[in-house]
Amino acid sequence: MAETLRERLARSPLPRLEAHLLWQDVLGVSRAWLIAHDTVALAPAQLAAHDALEARRLAGEPMAYILGRREFLGRDFRVTPAVLIPRPETELLVECGLAAIRAQAAPRVLDLGTGSGIVAVSIALARPDARVQASDCSEAALAIAQHNADVLGAKLLFSRGNWYDIKLDSIRHDLIISNPPYIDAQDAHLSTGDLRFEPRAALTDEADGLAALRRIVQGAPAHLFRDGALCVEHGWDQAAAVQALFRAAGFAKVCCLRDLAGIERVTWGRLAA
Ligand SMILES: C[S@@+](CC[C@H](N)C(=O)[O-])C[C@H]1O[C@@H](n2cnc3c(N)ncnc32)[C@H](O)[C@@H]1O
Repeated sequence: MAETLRERLARSPLPRLEAHLLWQDVLGVSRAWLIAHDTVALAPAQLAAHDALEARRLAGEPMAYILGRREFLGRDFRVTPAVLIPRPETELLVECGLAAIRAQAAPRVLDLGTGSGIVAVSIALARPDARVQASDCSEAALAIAQHNADVLGAKLLFSRGNWYDIKLDSIRHDLIISNPPYIDAQDAHLSTGDLRFEPRAALTDEADGLAALRRIVQGAPAHLFRDGALCVEHGWDQAAAVQALFRAAGFAKVCCLRDLAGIERVTWGRLAA
């Protein structure tokens, strides 16, 4: 006799939520449907499709790559192994950037290292009057970002290149925003957990973790209007070093924002006159 969903769920080795998400994906149904219809008999093809996904999860692959999506600020973004999996703390970066341009009409915004496009797309959707350009060194990441912008209806310009070495839409901007790779190349975490599956170039600068941040902060004054804002995400122990970089580059009103875990995660400041 065919196995029912309830029976298969009962012997799942995965946490309940993950098991539900995999079945929702295979059956193309909502969680509410799944719970209400768990006596449904499963077809061999459905079992085979599910078991293939379950095997990937048991091998440690992140759910976001298996499902091909991750929610960020209430929207679903396509995610593949070509891009970093969106992190909840990056929502703080977007909120910081939006606050920095709140009083500015038709602001010019530059997102460096856009990955899946979560930062640039979220800003473009929150501020349809903004002119947003986003860049990345990875062609594959830019293709995902472009897809997300198209599906979510965000209008922005994508460019490929090394930080500021791109064909810039504007010379000066009201906001430069970035979540760059900031993990020290020697950090053992790079070969553990979810990080093993993510693109190395999205995680580490192959140096001390501050190399990309240095490049972005030091290059910002040449690409910002006076009083323009720079907002960057960084590691849990990098706040003091990043604030020092901001001040040395001529930024004023420099401050750090803490994420929900209480960690200083985002630094921002305005270019002094
Ligand atoms: C930490 S990920 C952030 C992705 C996305 N903004 C987010 O917050 O999820 C850093 C991104 O910077 C890109 N990157 C790394 N080195 C770069 C470089 N030299 N120039 C431009 N982008 C770079 C990576 O490809 C990656 O997409």
